[in-house]
Amino acid sequence: MFSVEECKIIELPKIHNEAGNITVVENKETIPFDVKRVYYLYDVPMGSERGGHGHYILQQYIVALSGSFTFVLDDGVNTKEVFLNDPSKALYIKPGIWREIKDFSSGSICLVLGSDVYSEEDYVRDYDEFLKYRKG
Ligand code: TYD
Repeated sequence: MFSVEECKIIELPKIHNEAGNITVVENKETIPFDVKRVYYLYDVPMGSERGGHGHYILQQYIVALSGSFTFVLDDGVNTKEVFLNDPSKALYIKPGIWREIKDFSSGSICLVLGSDVYSEEDYVRDYDEFLKYRKG
């Protein structure tokens, strides 16, 4: 079981020149799992909140490709807020962490790199169920 303290900001490689930046994420080089799924959240209405679930197995890298938003992480004991607004940084969310996402800026894009394909069975969507799971 991982704690929120173990969900850290990772500096991604940035290739910078006068024409702009490139940030690269490569399996086994810059990310500690094989990426099996990529998706992104966009057109999120101002004021809406997403998330509200945990995953049993899934690991994720979260990147603010554009704009900003805040992840609230919860390991059943402690919570931690992570503000993301830099496409050269990723938030590494380990398995077994509850998350809420809030304060999306207008036009923001949230990129998610996942260690697995979509599976509803990997979700825990009930908070009491999550707490039970964390307490083992
Ligand atoms: P969910 O992961 O709950 O969204 P968020 O955490 O951003 O609020 O997913 C919302 C809906 O989309 C849910 O019905 C499941 C579906 N979905 C897929 O079908 N495939 C996917 O890869 C994802 C991420 C979601």
